[in-house]
Amino acid sequence: MIEASAPSNIALIKYMGKVDSQSNIPSNASLSFTLEKLRTTVTLEKIKNVADQWSPLTGNDFYNLQLSEKGVQKFLNHFARLKKEFAIDGYYQVKSANNFPSDAGLASSASSFAALTEATYLLKKSTHADFTKSKTELAALSRMGSGSSCRSFFSPWSTWDDRGAREAHIPIKNLIHRAFIYETSAKKVSSSEAHQRVVMSPLFKEDENGISRIDRAEIRLKNLLLAFSENNWRLAFEICWQEFWDMHELFHTCDPSFTYLTDEVCHVLKQMKEKWDREGRGPLITLDAGPNVHCLFREEDADLVGAWEKEFAPGSKKS
Ligand code: DP6
Repeated sequence: MIEASAPSNIALIKYMGKVDSQSNIPSNASLSFTLEKLRTTVTLEKIKNVADQWSPLTGNDFYNLQLSEKGVQKFLNHFARLKKEFAIDGYYQVKSANNFPSDAGLASSASSFAALTEATYLLKKSTHADFTKSKTELAALSRMGSGSSCRSFFSPWSTWDDRGAREAHIPIKNLIHRAFIYETSAKKVSSSEAHQRVVMSPLFKEDENGISRIDRAEIRLKNLLLAFSENNWRLAFEICWQEFWDMHELFHTCDPSFTYLTDEVCHVLKQMKEKWDREGRGPLITLDAGPNVHCLFREEDADLVGAWEKEFAPGSKKS
């Protein structure tokens, strides 16, 4: 039996909008921090069957994973693509699970597809030891299954642009990640659907300053890298803040428009921003395509984590 695991990642400059939806070619470059502790494990075992099968992986280290029929299909289609690419015969029992709850509003598609790609590569290597693919090549294959998964091959920072995914060299490491989960029900609009819809927003073409979404993301990426290199944490926070609002504005202004924001999340974001302004320090804050807030604290701000957890824990502090 083959086993592999891969981490999730959280984007600070977002992949939102595709140039090609078949092969997940992004409209703009993105940047993410790899969440080493939030992982998906995949196992592969040969079966005497006429089709590949998926089932949840069970064990003490895992949360129960339920995939929709569509989700299973997407996962097995990616496996079939990889088997073809690596010339692997036969059919397999594919099992997967996360070490974090899948209903916790945390994106597991990045870690799932990265782990499946890695496991299939190890499967090939188990019979062909000299078969070699670089991390860059594996990331490019993984991208075909789910775009954001290609960034999970690099750590702690990863960037992905038209040259592919690779490590981003950023002098700030060991960030402490906390996700504040305010909504655990399934998303009404999947991120794949969001990618298709955002290009219909007038803000995708240009904002009030005549700048396109693609240019806004590229400018922010450049400025964020500069802010990190100059250790300007406050500026880094501002850029990440503007970037996630930009993505959510695209959701609010496309046709048909949609939102992931709840009253509770809007309230919490306002409180978090006020706390940052009042105290002059805090974490980077971002939202993915969902109503949950991700915070990244610097090691030197570790003393803040407890207070932020206490103040913003879901269900508490409503005024
Ligand atoms: C909002 O990678 O889930 O998390 O390529 O269609 O599978 P597909 O989309 P996916 O999109 C992730 C979008 C995002 C931003 C990001 O991770 O950059």
